[in-house]
Amino acid sequence: MKKIIIAIDGYSSCGKSSFAKAIAARLGYLFIDSGAMYRAVTLFARQQGLIENGRVKERELAARLNEIDLSFRYNPETRKSDIWLNGADVEKQIRSMEVSRDVSAVSAVGAVRDFLVARQQQMGRDKGVVMDGRDIGTVVFPDAELKLFMTAAPEVRAERRYKELQAQGAAVRFEDILNNIEERDRLDTERAVGPLRQAEDAVLLDNSDMTIPEQMEWVMKLIEERTRPDKPL
Ligand code: DC
Repeated sequence: MKKIIIAIDGYSSCGKSSFAKAIAARLGYLFIDSGAMYRAVTLFARQQGLIENGRVKERELAARLNEIDLSFRYNPETRKSDIWLNGADVEKQIRSMEVSRDVSAVSAVGAVRDFLVARQQQMGRDKGVVMDGRDIGTVVFPDAELKLFMTAAPEVRAERRYKELQAQGAAVRFEDILNNIEERDRLDTERAVGPLRQAEDAVLLDNSDMTIPEQMEWVMKLIEERTRPDKPL
């Protein structure tokens, strides 16, 4: 079967990563969570004191991006791939509320976006990739063979995130999560560089009332269509 690029964009916490992961596993494709990359750069900025009260020291961060070494490595314990930042597995740390709070500001920095978009394009050069994020179908892979745009009601998304964090033993309040999601929706769509928007040729998926198996069945039909040998490359 012809290998393609599947770009999945959409609002935060609407299950993009779980869905992308499931598709990648089914097809034997590489899964790349681009949000994890923005989160890891945010963690780096926090560690280096480059964020003060939610404000990013943009020029200093831009000058130090070359100190950042990012990679995804398989974790045999969880059987998932974790993100590593400068020699350390930071998969857990990047999901904290502190990083979630600062990540929108960091991802609005043009130099950070240029740096990460270049890395992402390199990761997809051999195709056979499912990447999820905010600008994958519009900026990173504008020629992706299949683009999905995912959305779900904010309350549904907050509930999912709440359960996820609770399961990890984090003491969190539902209201805080809902506020964070709504604020990130606003910042993601309003930022000047790489804003979240549906690409013209993206297929919309509102999964408020859909299970993962239902979404899977839906997407597999699309994938079959797009990978048909008679379809020109
Ligand atoms: O998918 P996520 O919630 O883990 O993403 C974290 C943040 O990173 C999100 O607030 C927006 C930003 N992001 C981005 O700007 N561009 C991407 N391609 C992926 C994520």
